[in-house]
This record gives sequence, structure tokens and C-alpha cells, in this order.
Amino acid sequence: MAKLTKLDDIVSLCKRRGFIFQSSEIYGGLASCYDYGPLGVELKNNVKRAWWRASINMRDDVVGLDCSILMHPMVWKASGHADKFADLIAECKKCNTRTRVDHLADKAGKHTEHVPLDTAQKDAQSLVNKVCPSCGTIGQFTDPMPFRLMFETKMGANVDDSMTLFLRPETAQGIFANFKNVVDSTRVKIPFGIGQIGKSFRNEVTTKAFIFRTREFEQAEIEFFCEPGTDEEWYNHWKEFRFNWYVNLGIKKENLRFREHDPDELAHYAKGCVDIEYKFPFGSGDWQELEGIANRTNFDLRQHQRGMRTMNDWYENKGDLGKITLKAEAEDYEKGPLSYFDEQQKKRFIPYVIEPSAGIDRSTLAFLVDAYDEEEVKGETRNLLRFSPALAPTKAAIFPLVKKDGMPEIAHNICDDLRKYFTCFYDEKGAIGRRYRRQDEAGTPFCVTVDGQTLEDKTVTVRDRDSMEQYRVSTDQIKNHLREKLDI
Ligand code: GAP
Repeated sequence: MAKLTKLDDIVSLCKRRGFIFQSSEIYGGLASCYDYGPLGVELKNNVKRAWWRASINMRDDVVGLDCSILMHPMVWKASGHADKFADLIAECKKCNTRTRVDHLADKAGKHTEHVPLDTAQKDAQSLVNKVCPSCGTIGQFTDPMPFRLMFETKMGANVDDSMTLFLRPETAQGIFANFKNVVDSTRVKIPFGIGQIGKSFRNEVTTKAFIFRTREFEQAEIEFFCEPGTDEEWYNHWKEFRFNWYVNLGIKKENLRFREHDPDELAHYAKGCVDIEYKFPFGSGDWQELEGIANRTNFDLRQHQRGMRTMNDWYENKGDLGKITLKAEAEDYEKGPLSYFDEQQKKRFIPYVIEPSAGIDRSTLAFLVDAYDEEEVKGETRNLLRFSPALAPTKAAIFPLVKKDGMPEIAHNICDDLRKYFTCFYDEKGAIGRRYRRQDEAGTPFCVTVDGQTLEDKTVTVRDRDSMEQYRVSTDQIKNHLREKLDI
């Protein structure tokens, strides 16, 4: 019987089989940064490919984009990140460890999760019962203080014109900043979306659980622009669409759920937000956010219109964001530079935005956890990853049973031919049973073995990862057979 997955088992398999390594490991590692190894990069690329295909290529109402990570600092002033994107933290007076206030628990383990900055209690009195997660001292905290989450960097070599920039904390703003470019250069008509995948950076106070919460991560985001009044309908559409994406890629339905945000935990830009949560094998309650779907209203485009109106102040204050206040919105903001003209209705408006925002690393972890299985086979433990074929890093492994009688040559030929269509792995070393087990651990759906019978009747053994069933297929049919099974 399959046993309950532990995160440690996943971490150890990832290291052992070259999925994920600690960054800079030879120098002792860099906290919360990870590198994807040979199997990991294939898996992560497949997750991105599956997202891009379903969300962009298979739809006629979403187009793609790839923005730069570094953007004009006014983007972050207008979006609110420069002033508001901070966590409230408190420092333990005994051991000096800083912890997010919403991650502090009392002795009974009770958290006050999801407390937005504006409504959080901001004095140490509110933390009298809280326990320092580092040294265990109770109630010895400084007053909570905001900690900015954006990483800063400098652009330019000359002191006079060098500029402080931020590494983007979300990919979304690149989409808003290009909204007009896309409308003007393509034939998109509202309702339509713009999607992109890319790296984001947040100087998280507390990182968590392997690749779940890191300081550098990848996001896959869609900003779906629609007419005000139709936003609820699109919000429900994207909720269902994104939930089904995970299910169609093999995540068990019972491990997924929706969690609507309470009004007091909504981000400053959102009218409504729902998380798709996955039952991860860690954390206080197991259920953790995988993706957020938010109704951002017309907040961002309106803010960028205000940002555009404030550019003179930016020059006058030599780019010091702290000295700048965004100019009030023009009275006829509905007709501003980022508005949209609906030709059919002959009316101009600022579109509302529904935003499905997924984490690529976090979904990759969910796919790994959900696919992981251990079972007893003839008194031995078999570890396997039951990846859906679309996500499996290697689609088929090709083996000669022994290294003689021309078997390696036939196996090489089959492998070279199949490689034109999907990823394959050739292996001739060790006992056949061990070779199968290695591929089970890598999540390879099929193994193809050239054996004695191949020399007689030109058939090969195909072995199915999940059922371990073995059957024969003729060599001239193997390509079609596997392509059909893999659906590629
Ligand atoms: N544009 C909206 C936005 O960025 P978010 O809820 O902050 O919303 C969206 O992030 C998704 O990005 C999360 O659901 C999660 O999957 C991923 N994510 C956010 N912070 C992350 C981190 N520090 N490490 C890994 N993934 C993260």
C-alpha cells in the first residue's frame, strides 16, 4: 500500500536523482536558493510548457509576452510596491531573530495568518503570548516594523546617472506597462489576456520548505482584461480553468481546494481573491497556496496613468521615490492614455483585470509530491514518480538486455529515432531490474528493452512504469505506439 509522502523523502530523491540541488553547495549553500539538475530542468520546462500551451497556445483570447526583470522605478511607485510591499516583522530581544508577525504562534501553536500591513497590530503588547521560533522565548519582541521585500540593485557605471532599481517582485507589472503596446500592435479585442512566465524576486523574511517559498522564483501570470461588469463572470471562468489545469496534469482532486480570501486579508488592489491550495506534506495545516486568482479591478492601469502624470516630479526629485507623491487622477481618467476604446459599443473605459498568478517552482513541488509513491514489490521497496506523460522529464528509456549479439546497436537505432519526437534515455549498464527501478524513480513512463526475442521476431519489450506490466510491440510500430500512449 502507498505510504504518506514526507517532504524529506522528496528532498532526498531530488538530490539523489539530480532533480534539485542546493545553490552554491560547494561553498556551503546559499539559503533558500536552489538549482535544477538535469532531470529537474526537464520537469520544470515541461511545467512551463504545459502552462503556456494551455493558457496561451490553446486559447484564442490570450497572447504571450516576455518582459525585462529590471523596470523603471516609477513602475513600483505606481503599483504600490515601493511603499506598501513589506512584511511586518518583530525581533526577538533575546536572540535577535526577526520573524514575520503573521508567522509567530503562541504556545498552543496558534497563528494570526494573513494580516495585511494596514490592519496589523503594530506594538509589542500584541505579541506577549507569542513564542520566538528560534530560541523559544515567550513575549520578548520589539515593536513590529515593516520590512521591504523588494531587492535593490544599481544600474549604470557613472555616479551621476546611476539609478537604484528593483528586481521585480511579480511579473504582472510588465504586462500592465505593455498593455497599450499590445493593444496597438496586435488585433486583440477585449476580453483578452496577456500571459508571461519569468523570474521574480522577494527578500522573504522567512523562507520555507525546500522550493515552496524562496527568494528567487518563477511565476506564470495572466492579466485578463475585461469590461467592468463582466469581471465576476471571468473570475469564475479562470477559477475553474486553472483548477482543472492541475487536475488534467495528474494532481489528485482530493489534494486541491479553493480558499476565498476574507475581506480583511485582500491585497490593496483586489476586489476578490481565491487561492488554489494544495495539501503539501508540511506546515501547520498542510493546505498551502499554490496559485492566487484575483480580481484586480482597474487599479493597476489607473495607477500607471497617475504614475505617467507624475514623471515631472520624478525628474525634479532626481528619482527619489520617497519624495514623490503620485499626482491625483485626472477627472476624466476613463479616457486616459491606458484606456481602451470599444469600437462596437463606441465607448472608452479602463478595463478590469482578472489575474491568475501561479508559481512555477511551487507547482513543480506539488507535481513532485503528488507523483511520489512508495510500494512493496516482492519484499522490496519501489520508489516511483507517477508523473503524467506531459510532465515526465524522460518519456522513454531504451535498454539492450545484454551488451552483445547486436542488441546495443538495435537499441541505439531505436533511441536515435525516438529522440526526434520526445526525450529518451539510453542505458546498458547493470541488471535490467535495477535499470527499471532507476527509471521508476525518475518518473519515466515507459522502458523499451531489446532482448533475445528481438533478434528472432523484431519485437521489443515495453514496460509500463505504473502497472509494471510488460508486453511486446514490433520495432516498426514502437514510435507510433509510444506517441499514442504519451499523447505527443
Ligand atoms: N501578481 C500577483 C502575485 O504575485 P502572489 O500571491 O504574491 O501574487 C503568486 O504570488 C504566486 O507566486 C503564489 O501563489 C506562489 O505560487 C508564487 N510565489 C509567491 N512568492 C513566492 C516565493 N517566495 N517562492 C516561491 N513561489 C512564490
